[in-house]
Amino acid sequence: MRLALAKSSEQSRSAPETISMKYYIQTYGCQMNYSDSERITTVLKQMGYEKTDGYADADLILLNTCSIKQKAENKIYGLGEQFAPMKKRNPNLRIGITGCMIRDESGARGDVKHEVFKTMPTIDFVFRIKDLMQLPNILFKLHGSKGGDEFKNLCDYFHISPTITNLSQAFIPISNGCNNFCSYCIVPYARGREECRKMSEILDEVKKVAKRGAVEINLVGQNVSTYNAKDADQDSQESHFAQLLRKIDTVEGIDRIRFYTVHPKDITDDVIDLYGKLPSMVPHIHLPLQSGSEAVLKRMNRLYTPDRFRELVKKLRIKIPHISISTDIIVGFCGETEEEFMESCNIIEELKIDLIYVSKYSERKGTLAHKKLDDDVPETIKKERFLRITELMKNISHDYNQNFKGKKVKVLVERIRKGYADGKIPEFKMTRFKASDPKLIGKYVEIEVDKCMEWCLEGEPA
Ligand code: 5AD
Ligand code: SF4
Repeated sequence: MRLALAKSSEQSRSAPETISMKYYIQTYGCQMNYSDSERITTVLKQMGYEKTDGYADADLILLNTCSIKQKAENKIYGLGEQFAPMKKRNPNLRIGITGCMIRDESGARGDVKHEVFKTMPTIDFVFRIKDLMQLPNILFKLHGSKGGDEFKNLCDYFHISPTITNLSQAFIPISNGCNNFCSYCIVPYARGREECRKMSEILDEVKKVAKRGAVEINLVGQNVSTYNAKDADQDSQESHFAQLLRKIDTVEGIDRIRFYTVHPKDITDDVIDLYGKLPSMVPHIHLPLQSGSEAVLKRMNRLYTPDRFRELVKKLRIKIPHISISTDIIVGFCGETEEEFMESCNIIEELKIDLIYVSKYSERKGTLAHKKLDDDVPETIKKERFLRITELMKNISHDYNQNFKGKKVKVLVERIRKGYADGKIPEFKMTRFKASDPKLIGKYVEIEVDKCMEWCLEGEPA
């Protein structure tokens, strides 16, 4: 489909011109945002936009943003300047922002108010991701075409199927939003309260992607443990999330299921029991701890204790002794003392957590911590704690990875880069081998591991 372009003042004297328009989406942040970008792609394709691989020849740039940390937002604000010369070169260029930075309203500059319009004069529109179905109308208005009536069938965000970029791995949202209000976290304000998708819809999407060649399903949601579906078996004792996992496990072609993220206060025993039972449950779990100190967890409003976390790890290791466990840790949270920080280090060491995503606490306006607690740990100390815990993780990860030496592992190839193919093994370890054929992307390759580094394994096809 071709669109009538909005004309610059010079062009406006001549007849309307129809040329095809190109879009570029820049995605920041978590798997949820990547999944959202796949849904945005579907809408843009339906409207006739064509994909391009960078800013240079785009008529539409969409920034799908993350606002977990202030630094992530600052990065977006910093982009504003480079758009001005691009708009001069291409008067039809329209730039929009979505994702977690957009919390209140969706619309074009002039129609709605948003901080980014003030600080970034080059931004033309914003939309909340849950208002994705409004995007056609906003764009028709901005790109000078008739109206978005023909897209009325885009009923809501969850019903828009994604355009999968990576055919072998699919990221499928099962819920959006969060009811937890961890005191440091902006997500409940950015994404709103938790809304869950029907189980039948998720299953239909899984079957569809499996038919197109997906072998790995990544279920995404802020707290998948509280997944609550209207069409789940309400008489069953089993949690809705466990029911969903069982059903996905039976879909032909699916042999890896991953999910992000469970909450240690909510994960149920029936989900833990599926490890080692369902063939597609990979021997890896991401279980965010945030802090090893009971007092800090209280200040974070996490509603579990370090002992509850220990208990969960113990149960998981009974099911799969070699299970890989990754976690999130925030260092330098409000009032974190050296002793409290050491409690995080000690539990990581004690439980041999082999991958940690460490963040320095970043105060977010409007959160409970911003209102009630002081962001009083100096930046130098946050940095120092970040480095210390990263060093500790490197050692644990290095030791854990030695278990793979000489073993054969199945790598699902994700990309070819600098003469290597790389991808993950079931335990979530990045594994690479020398190769340059792009046809390998999305395929399984069996590798015999000969090098085990902290961040990655290396080997040769077996
Ligand atoms: N500051 C630092 N890290 C944060 N996270 C969430 N909010 C903040 C914040 N304000 C981290 C948590 C979470 C991960 C996605 O990001 O560790 O699990
Ligand atoms: Fe944020 Fe907590 Fe919800 Fe995770 S569970 S999204 S950290 S509020």
